[in-house]
Amino acid sequence: PAPGWTVDADVVVIGSGVAGLTVALRCAAAGAKVTVVTKALLDDGSTRWAQGGIAAALGEGDTPAQHLDDTLVAGAGLCDEEAVRTLVTEGPDAVRRLIATGARFDTDADSGEILLTREGGHHRNRIAHAGGDATGAEISRALVDAVRDAGISTIEHALVLDLLKDADGRAAGVSLHVMGEGEQDGVGAVRAGAVVLATGGMGQVFSATTNPAVSTGDGVALALRAGAEISDLEFVQFHPTVLWLGPDAEGQQPLVSEAVRGEGAHLVDAGGHRFMVGAHELAELAPRDIVAKGIMRRMREQGAEHMYLDARHFGPEKWARRFPTILAACRAHGIDPVTAPIPVAPAAHYASGGVRTDLHGRTTVPGLYACGEVACTGVHGANRLASNSLLEGLVYAERIATDITAAGSTAAGPQPAPGAPAPGAPVAAAGPSVPLVDPAERITIQRVMTHGAGVLRSEKSLLEAAAELDRLRAEAEARAGSRSGAEPGTGAWETTNLLLVARALVDAALRREETRGCHWREDHPERDDAAWRRHLLVTLDGDGG
Ligand code: SIN
Repeated sequence: PAPGWTVDADVVVIGSGVAGLTVALRCAAAGAKVTVVTKALLDDGSTRWAQGGIAAALGEGDTPAQHLDDTLVAGAGLCDEEAVRTLVTEGPDAVRRLIATGARFDTDADSGEILLTREGGHHRNRIAHAGGDATGAEISRALVDAVRDAGISTIEHALVLDLLKDADGRAAGVSLHVMGEGEQDGVGAVRAGAVVLATGGMGQVFSATTNPAVSTGDGVALALRAGAEISDLEFVQFHPTVLWLGPDAEGQQPLVSEAVRGEGAHLVDAGGHRFMVGAHELAELAPRDIVAKGIMRRMREQGAEHMYLDARHFGPEKWARRFPTILAACRAHGIDPVTAPIPVAPAAHYASGGVRTDLHGRTTVPGLYACGEVACTGVHGANRLASNSLLEGLVYAERIATDITAAGSTAAGPQPAPGAPAPGAPVAAAGPSVPLVDPAERITIQRVMTHGAGVLRSEKSLLEAAAELDRLRAEAEARAGSRSGAEPGTGAWETTNLLLVARALVDAALRREETRGCHWREDHPERDDAAWRRHLLVTLDGDGG
């Protein structure tokens, strides 16, 4: 649809989690005119749900080199080592700058040192946390406060639709749909020479996920339509310990942080047997994909719907002090972890892949950047190391801000045009228009994906999923433009995006005929480095490299 209103900026940031708000703050501090657009409220994204913390080599005896090693091992041969080195080397100072911005981490009462815990795949205590298990909420609070204090312009309730490009094919802004009031209502545009995607993940592609309702893959869908390179979509991380609320639970589910295991909780089956002991040298603290597989295997062997996390030995004081959020969530569902083991099962948690970027957050479309979960910087490989995501959002956001604002940046690659496109300069939506999908199909997509492309996949299950998704697409195409076509609106656009990214994910998962990291093919159970130590690209048409 044609924009009814237009705002001009130097930089438009889409998304308001740790990545988006950090880019906005750093660009604004350098004098750029920034507009942040966000789909709901400023603090409604995934960041505020993060529990365990943020990983960085801050502790005595820890080094970026050790953090690098743990990240590479978790990534199962597919990390970009330079991207990881950048992350772990710049990470500690980025966390210190986050503290200077206002985030308050838990500290030792006597020494004032930041308290550090452990999570899966880490050989050292290097996870900083806040409010016990409310790290993301504190980071979000601090950044939202700082953005407000800096007077950065924000547009809430704004769903991004498409990238706008100028006549030379450079990013020139975005079109968006705002559920607003006054002038900025309905479909409009923000025109800017630098566009930063920080839209978060796509967990809502699956039935049960730790992600909030807003995580519908909008950034990846936009980038696909705009012709940007997307890779590693098959690597969806399933968090091993999500509170199990019954076989039919759908939508966002309560997370039980890895930090609970980091502090000594045990994974047990119904008979009380610790099945991860002996399965991996780190037992319950093995990398996340290995623990998720261990749980799934045990569930299959025993025909069980879930396993248990037993942390009764923490006692009431430690539970209340260290994990108040999880304690409250469990109790709200009638489970008291002080007296009973917690029923847990894996659920969709994190997209390790996304919009491909270089070390400066640049995508393959000039002027378009990506950071945070929507991006694929190469740091996660086939399986993200726990608590590296907030850090990645922070470090690469700062690098993007530097690239955008540095006068005469010497780095190779496309340079952002300073400022908004000239008034009247031709800008147009990038890429083909895609038929709108009925919002009622959201649940169909989620069930198809959970059944066909969930923790366990095979050629058969993936082909079934592909056929169902293609049927939904054909139906939407047949109805487009007719009276039975979906009405434009947030629900229809989100569902259209979900279908697009789901189909791309299935395509990648079908092509990768091996098991690696969090991609588990029952029909190809081995890792195959000779054939598959490489990345898969996906495109709108389903072909790739
Ligand atoms: C958790 O607290 O277990 C989540 C940490 C993460 O996803 O990195």
